[in-house]
Formats: sequence, C-alpha cells, structure tokens
Amino acid sequence: MSEKHLCIGLSLSPTWLNGWGWRKKDSSAERIFSADFYIELTKKAEEAKLDFVFKPDALFLHPERVNVSPAMGGLDPTLLMTMLAEHTSQIGLVTTVSTTFNPPYVIARQLQTLHRLSGGRAGWNIVTSIEGADNFGHKNMPSSEERYNRAKESVEVIRKLWRSYPAEALLVDRAEGIFADKEKIHPIDYKGDFYDVKGPLNLPAHLAGELPLFQAGASDAGREFASGVASGIFAATPTIESAISYRQDLRNRAMSKGRDADDISVLPGLSLFLGNTTAEANALYRDAFAHLSHEQQLAMVRRILGVDLSGFAKEDKVTAANIPHDNQQMHSKTHAELLKDYIVKNEPTVQQLLSRPEVISSAHWIIIGTAEEAAQQIEYWLDKGAIDGFIALPGGSISSLQLFFDELLPLLVEKGLFREEYESDTFIKNLTKQKN
Ligand SMILES: Cc1cc2nc3c(=O)[nH]c(=O)nc-3n(C[C@H](O)[C@H](O)[C@H](O)COP(=O)(O)O)c2cc1C
Repeated sequence: MSEKHLCIGLSLSPTWLNGWGWRKKDSSAERIFSADFYIELTKKAEEAKLDFVFKPDALFLHPERVNVSPAMGGLDPTLLMTMLAEHTSQIGLVTTVSTTFNPPYVIARQLQTLHRLSGGRAGWNIVTSIEGADNFGHKNMPSSEERYNRAKESVEVIRKLWRSYPAEALLVDRAEGIFADKEKIHPIDYKGDFYDVKGPLNLPAHLAGELPLFQAGASDAGREFASGVASGIFAATPTIESAISYRQDLRNRAMSKGRDADDISVLPGLSLFLGNTTAEANALYRDAFAHLSHEQQLAMVRRILGVDLSGFAKEDKVTAANIPHDNQQMHSKTHAELLKDYIVKNEPTVQQLLSRPEVISSAHWIIIGTAEEAAQQIEYWLDKGAIDGFIALPGGSISSLQLFFDELLPLLVEKGLFREEYESDTFIKNLTKQKN
C-alpha cells in the first residue's frame, strides 16, 4: 500500500451534465448560473475534507451550440470563489484566470482579494487559453510560444506585485499612528517585453503565504513554464503510461530548476462514471456520449489534429502517415500529442479513434465502474507513481457525483489514502501536509 496521501480537488464545472446529462430529471441544470448550486456542492466537498474546489473557465460562448448545451458558458470563476469563501472555512478555492487576456495588475489584485477574503485559501490555475481572441480585439490567437512567454512574464509581474506590499507591512498601530510600514512597501518598476508595471499593489498580501499556482497545458513550453512556478498541475493523461512519463518529466524539470520534485503535484482530471454495478456504470458511460454524431466526432478530430477523415470508412485504419506534420491551426499541443501518440502506437480504425477520450472527452483519465473498482484503480496509479492526486470530474449523471462522495471517498479514507480531517485551516498548509 502507498505511504502517500492523495491530493483531491473537485471540478465545479458540472461535468455530469455534459451531453444529454442536463436533460435528466434530477440534473438541476437550471441552477448552474445560480449561487445555491455551487454553495451546496462546495459545502459537501468541504465536509468530505477535499483539498480544493476548482473552476475551469472560458472567455467565449459557442452560440451554435447553445440550443443543446451550456456551450462553454459559465459564471466568472473568481467572483464565484469569492462568494464561496463566505460559505466555507477550510477548503481551497482554485480559480482559473487567463494570462493571455488579462493584465497582470488586475489578476494580482483580484487573486489577492480572494486570498484575503477567504482567509488564505485561494489558488490560481494559470491558463493561456485556446480560444476567445476575438472578444479582446485580436483577430487570431497569439502563437503558443507568445502565449507562454506572456504567461511567464505575467506571473513574474504578479509575484512581484504580491511581494510589493507584504503582509507584515500592515501594522494599524493606533498608539504610534502608523497604519502601514512605508519602508516595507515598494514599487516594482517592471519593464518587460509585454508589460510595464510600476506597482506597488494596492492591498497587502495574506499572512498565510503566497497563494499556490496551478497550470494546465503540457506542450514543451507548457512544461517548462509549469515546472518553474506551479505547485499543482491539472493534467490530461488518458493512460497510466502518459501520466507516469508526464509526472516524471515535470519532477525532473523542477529539480533542474533548483526546486524539490515534491513541490509539484500532478493531478489528472479524472472522469468518474460510477454505478452501483459495473453494468450500470458502463451504461452511464455509453449514454453520456450517445448524443455525439459521427460527423461531430470527425469534427473533433479535425479540430485537434487538423486531419479530415470524412472520406474514410469506419473500419479503415488511421496511421502516422495520415497526420499532418506542421499543423499551424492546432489549438492545444497537449491534446494533439496525446492523440498522435495513440495513433502511432495503435494504428486504430476510424471507429476506435472516434471513441477515444482524447476525441470525446478532453483526454482525461476515465474510470468506469463501481466505487470499489475506482478506489482500486486510483490506488494502483498512485502506487505506480502516475499521480499525486486528481481533480474529480464526475460524469454521466448526478448519481456519479453522489457515489463519489458517499462511497469512493470513504473507501479511499479506509485504505489510508486520504485524510479524515483537515490538518490546517489554510489551503497552502493542507497542500504541504499532504506530501508527508
Ligand atoms: C487539462 C487542461 C485543462 C485546461 N483548462 C483550461 C481552462 O479552463 N481555460 C482555458 O482558457 N484554457 C485551458 N486549457 C488550455 C491551456 O491553458 C493551454 O492554452 C493549451 O493547453 C495550450 O497549451 P499547450 O500547447 O501547452 O497544451 C487547458 C489545457 C489542459 C491540457
């Protein structure tokens, strides 16, 4: 049995409503833009002693899909987390903010505000985004290289801003008449390729310490960036092999930058299709993707790899020779590389390719089964060094979410893989404790 504890987060993006899941009677789909939906969920997550709740984000809507789905629509995650801070006291609150579209002073200020209002429980998932340029006055998305260069600079500016007004500078010494120690508050005078920021930030840091950074995006540039700054990685790893090699690579890169390998927790998204029996779970999984037409699946492959398979028969094989080498239209190298790797190693038929998680569900790790079966698989991945924890994405139906809370988490506690009580009341300290 593993000596390690899992770090577990829950996505507040209601993944169990994907596909036709929202049409189920008990789906609560009409509540996804209202406060009580997220308050209930987050309170439940805190009762279960989860490390954090997490909200992915998009800065665009797909109007052509609003008739059948939320179409990437959603509440602003930082405002949402600020509201959730008021209703909870120990769980971490990880918001998503894109460095491609937001100026660093605004990001620094909003995140520090969340950190202060939550008593030191904020976390930031740094994304460089794959769509949305035309909502910000740009014709096209900047290249992946530019997005990561910008992200690196943005994080540098933001950390300097957080340190420009340290927590200890705030004195409120009534007797001496000193509100804050002027000597400890400094401008940052930053001038880089993208940003020119004077500072200091206009609010003090929190005594709990700097808020932990998370990152998603596994291209070479993404890994270089993450290994230098991130504490948590939201990973897309559909197979145990991809998870082991990704985690090892990030640990090596972190060490080469003078960090401890254990400073980084690799947390794959984990799509959980849980049933009371294996057959029930299989049916949930099958139904979750039944709404996708052959054409929609082909369009997904086109989007990820830039390859058009519409002239192929379902039983035709797809090989490396079918993949274009220099696809400039590629949105996410992470997803493209995962799918390429699968094709090269397996030479699947079109039918097999179209049912892959990389095509139908964001390339996440998928477990289909009972809570007992899920607990065994999670323990296996942990033992093999594939994960430090995971971000739960319950799928198919709200029943998967219920089984996650009612059966899977208690089983992980029973196995000694997850905590029974919070060790501390700040997210940062809980994250650190998990590693012991
Ligand atoms: C698992 C995963 C989750 C992501 N979540 C988001 C998100 O919530 N919002 C967003 O704008 N971009 C998100 N992204 C996109 C990344 O921030 C990044 O822009 C994209 O993956 C391209 O970088 P790459 O070439 O390193 O993959 C995500 C990427 C991955 C792999």
